Amino acid sequence: MTEDQWTEVDQYFSESLLPSDPVLESALEASVTAGLPAISVSPNQGKFLQMLAQIAGVRSILEIGTLGGYSTIWLARALGSGGRLITLEVDPKHAEVARLNVSRARLQDVVEVRIGNALETLPQLLAERCGPFDLIFIDADKQNIPAYFEWSLKLSRPGTLMVVDNVVRNGAVIDVDSSDPSVQGVRRFIEQLGTQSGATGTVIQTVGSKGYDGFAIVRVGLAASYEAG
Ligand code: SAH
Ligand code: DHB
Ligand code: MG
Repeated sequence: MTEDQWTEVDQYFSESLLPSDPVLESALEASVTAGLPAISVSPNQGKFLQMLAQIAGVRSILEIGTLGGYSTIWLARALGSGGRLITLEVDPKHAEVARLNVSRARLQDVVEVRIGNALETLPQLLAERCGPFDLIFIDADKQNIPAYFEWSLKLSRPGTLMVVDNVVRNGAVIDVDSSDPSVQGVRRFIEQLGTQSGATGTVIQTVGSKGYDGFAIVRVGLAASYEAG
């Protein structure tokens, strides 16, 4: 099995199952043109996130890590009328590209792109009583996943669904002594999740056009609840 084969199979499914979508395609194009890294979720992963949001009937979404807004558009389109999505991005250039892409998708009244370090904007959301969110997608820098998970629990209610991207990292996640802060961030998060009584979860490994990686899927339970301040 090679990465080329994973990519071809991924393309087969996206070509067969995902209708051509000029808005999403131009969002990726605009991101490349602006020099953003090509690390958005893949089309099939975007659809997976959208379907999760639809199945759960979510009305409010928090995304941590916007980049050019590709996953943002997939998720925001799952929201019915009155739905809201807040997405957090530290890089003003990424946020600017995302805002243009969101506007082209006619989602500017649904999506708020907040610029700032999520370690600062998450407590702000809590102070503004912006929660609880129905779905939280954690996809920013990986060394801070443990902190993002803690803040996300505070912005949750029983039943909140969380998805955490990139938790397998080509298998590096099992390297106990890894010197990679991203790996250590994921490992601390997995430990939190395994010992946290207020949430339960699992990890699904993935292969495809983004190589070998995976998503953690978390359901917030009764013990963890939204609290202001
Ligand atoms: N969710 C996007 C990809 C996000 S890539 C998609 O699938 O389309 C990760 C993003 O997180 C980058 O844009 C990066 O600038 C941002 N990021 C990194 N550290 C951050 C931080 N501390 N606070 C907020 N955003 C951060
Ligand atoms: C990276 C970040 C991501 O969110 C992703 O999906 C893939 C790679 C990265 O920082 O390398
Ligand atoms: Mg990611």
